[in-house]
Amino acid sequence: MPSLLFVCLGNICRSPLAEGALRAEAARRGVALVVDSAGTGNWHAGEPPDERAVAVAARNGVDITALRARQVTRADFACFDHIVALDHANLKDLRRLAPEDGSARLSLLLDWVPGRQGQAVADPWFGEAEGFDATWADVTAAARAIVERLSKDAEAAR
Ligand code: 4NP
Repeated sequence: MPSLLFVCLGNICRSPLAEGALRAEAARRGVALVVDSAGTGNWHAGEPPDERAVAVAARNGVDITALRARQVTRADFACFDHIVALDHANLKDLRRLAPEDGSARLSLLLDWVPGRQGQAVADPWFGEAEGFDATWADVTAAARAIVERLSKDAEAAR
């Protein structure tokens, strides 16, 4: 079963939304995946997602209230097939943290979306509430593209 870890800075806004969106899309499509999220920082470890993230997910029919923040670990690089950064700073931090023998493939979330390679998911933490709608649009586009890609890969391997 393919496994993906989404990583942002705090693990309370963008990566829990990416996790929620992918869980929902995979369930909708009947695709089995392992999904988790983490932060490069540890300031919010143990906390639920930001209430603005919980709200935007809920408005779109997805419940992320049970998620709890944690910091990414070196063991994650052996556990997950894909570690997916939400922005370039997260990706840079992951490259620095990656053990030499880590097998996880690193990418940016929007690399998975045709036409959006190399783009970052903007950090909505310091901005207006509308920023979370933009985050939701980005993570749902990525969730659709990820399920599409992994389904095709699974079919090709059959
Ligand atoms: P996230 O947003 O990386 O999308 O979870 C942030 C959450 C918290 C902080 C920064 C970004 N912070 O500075 O505490």
